[in-house]
Amino acid sequence: MDACADRRALLFAQRSIGRYATRQKQYIPDSVMSERTQVAIIGAGPAGLLLGQLLHRQGIEAVILEARGRDYVEARIRAGVLEQGTMEVLREAGVGERMDREGLRHGGIYLCFDGTLHHIPMSELTHGRAVMIYGQTEVVKDLIAARLADGGPLRFECADVAIDGLDADEPTVRYTHKGVEHELRCDIVAGCDGFHGVSRTVIPDDVLQVWGRDYPYAWLGILADVAPSTDELIYAHSDRGFALHSMRSPTLSRLYVQVDPDEDITDWPDDRIWSELHERLASPGWELTEGPVLEKSITPMRSFVAAPMRYRSLVLAGDAAHIVPPTGAKGLNLAVADVTLLAHALADHLRAGSDAALQDYSDGCLRRVWRAQHFSWWMTTMLHRDPGDDEYGRQLQRSQLAYVTSSAAAATSLAENYVGLPLDQTAMAAGGTVSRG
Ligand code: FAD
Ligand code: PHB
Repeated sequence: MDACADRRALLFAQRSIGRYATRQKQYIPDSVMSERTQVAIIGAGPAGLLLGQLLHRQGIEAVILEARGRDYVEARIRAGVLEQGTMEVLREAGVGERMDREGLRHGGIYLCFDGTLHHIPMSELTHGRAVMIYGQTEVVKDLIAARLADGGPLRFECADVAIDGLDADEPTVRYTHKGVEHELRCDIVAGCDGFHGVSRTVIPDDVLQVWGRDYPYAWLGILADVAPSTDELIYAHSDRGFALHSMRSPTLSRLYVQVDPDEDITDWPDDRIWSELHERLASPGWELTEGPVLEKSITPMRSFVAAPMRYRSLVLAGDAAHIVPPTGAKGLNLAVADVTLLAHALADHLRAGSDAALQDYSDGCLRRVWRAQHFSWWMTTMLHRDPGDDEYGRQLQRSQLAYVTSSAAAATSLAENYVGLPLDQTAMAAGGTVSRG
């Protein structure tokens, strides 16, 4: 796996003064294993793994440290929709081959309300842009396979990961791996450790600003062993709450129903979930086919932004810096956009000694992040039933849904946000002109 780095670490360990506890025949090092790299990446989710891959292709060394095991990371079911720009980045990174073979390219979505299905022809409205249905589990597997094939250091099951020395010239990441203490000295620490990670917490309170919102609902998601009952995703607004029919492959369906945030999953046997899905997705002439439920879980809905995304030699990317409710399918795509910018900025910094892109990294990301925050909030509040809302609020939702499915201008706005605005339109300096192309 990370043979070279492990060999180097071993050499160091052999040089360091250690001793054997004779009774236990166990090696107890008196000093930690020390190693140096250019970029220490914390977290092997999509953000950390893709950053490692992009840096590797530019000849920049990185070590990826992950708290969980490989099996857990590869099995974590989350996102399923890749924007047009995300597909392009994965191809350029050399990990798009299976996605292009097995992924499902979708040029539209359906909105379902008042018992009627309305089609939004996204590709027609966005000069041919589209999304790819390809599970986050598969993206992560492809990235891990590429990293291992390249021999890039990737350590699973790292405990007690801690960042030190951000004020000094050389930051250090300390961690324990297989019972041995390690220190990883580096030029840059990339915090790609998700919302609950350690990286964001080391930014001082008087520097870090946060904004956010918790929603009064959650998603109960199931993976079902049955062919999808629809050719494209259906987002449904109903008096009983939101529902989504998504998919993973021609034989696997992914479906969600809105539930209370404190709902207990044991109160949701499979037949109750299917019954709600039938009710909420109902439209004349359309039928939902049931199948065995392979997995089910409840996910809270949250919006969150932390800024700045760079503090001294620490940079944040992906869910470590921002969270969106999944209704807009933006979380994974934002993580990909962040690390695409970051890889360029780090190459300029580490190879060409130019800091301009690194200095603009946080602002550049945040322009796109806030656009996605608005879109995700807008989709979420338009489609869910807010338990605290009154009839006035519900009429506003219906009016907005009617507008977005009848006005080409409104549908185009939804479509271009859903397939993803071009990176250079959202991440470059503000003040560009409206494209008429
Ligand atoms: P993560 O995937 O959270 O990865 C962070 C990694 O860091 C993890 O592997 C974690 O174990 C590790 N870690 C944490 N702490 C430490 C530590 N101290 N030391 C070392 N490692 C650590 N997004 C979309 O774009 N489209 C969708 O359709 C979509 N649907 C979603 C549906 C659901 C139900 C959910 C929950 C999310 C969805 N998302 C979607 C969001 C998307 O899954 C996330 O935005 C994405 O996983 C972010 O990637 P990341 O690498 O930043 O963070
Ligand atoms: C999914 O397939 O998991 C999925 C699809 C669309 C979303 C969110 C999740 O908006």
